[in-house]
Amino acid sequence: FASNASGKEKTLAMIKPDGLSGNYTDRIKNLISDSGFTICKERIIQLDEESVMSFYAEHSSRSFFGSLVKYMTSGPVLLMILEKENAVADWRALIGPTDASKAKVTHPHSIRALCGLDSEKNCVHGSDSPQSAQREISFFFEEKISGRIVPKHDEL
Ligand code: TYD
Ligand code: MG
Repeated sequence: FASNASGKEKTLAMIKPDGLSGNYTDRIKNLISDSGFTICKERIIQLDEESVMSFYAEHSSRSFFGSLVKYMTSGPVLLMILEKENAVADWRALIGPTDASKAKVTHPHSIRALCGLDSEKNCVHGSDSPQSAQREISFFFEEKISGRIVPKHDEL
């Protein structure tokens, strides 16, 4: 699934609420296409607490979890399936490290350096492995997740 016969791989990318409300979408999409990714599918969703808690279940015992859920439900997110060779690792490299404040120093050309703020408000998500990509793409594009679908992202 994550890698097809032509060697292409898929990953799940998300522009988080601060990235979307800060009007970073066009710049991020330009970086995506300049880096050779194809956007296969995209949708905008206002996530609810239940879907964020399920998406980030691996972090449920962490002290930052409650704050993370609040942040991730603070506005709509843009979800994209990206495809290219080595998509999972290449997208992670393009977004940079989790802590955007550190990314500004160590990875100044990364997307998190461009539009993120700190280790919570880091403006974008990327799957961390082909297995995660498969789970996350199914979660957002094949299952009936709870949350409100926002039809026209042109208006955001
Ligand atoms: P993690 O999977 O460690 O990072 P990444 O997004 O780079 O895969 O953490 C998931 C999200 O949890 C992260 O994007 C933002 C949030 N988070 C915090 O709010 N505080 C933290 O200290 C960490 C590590 C993560
Ligand atoms: Mg992660």
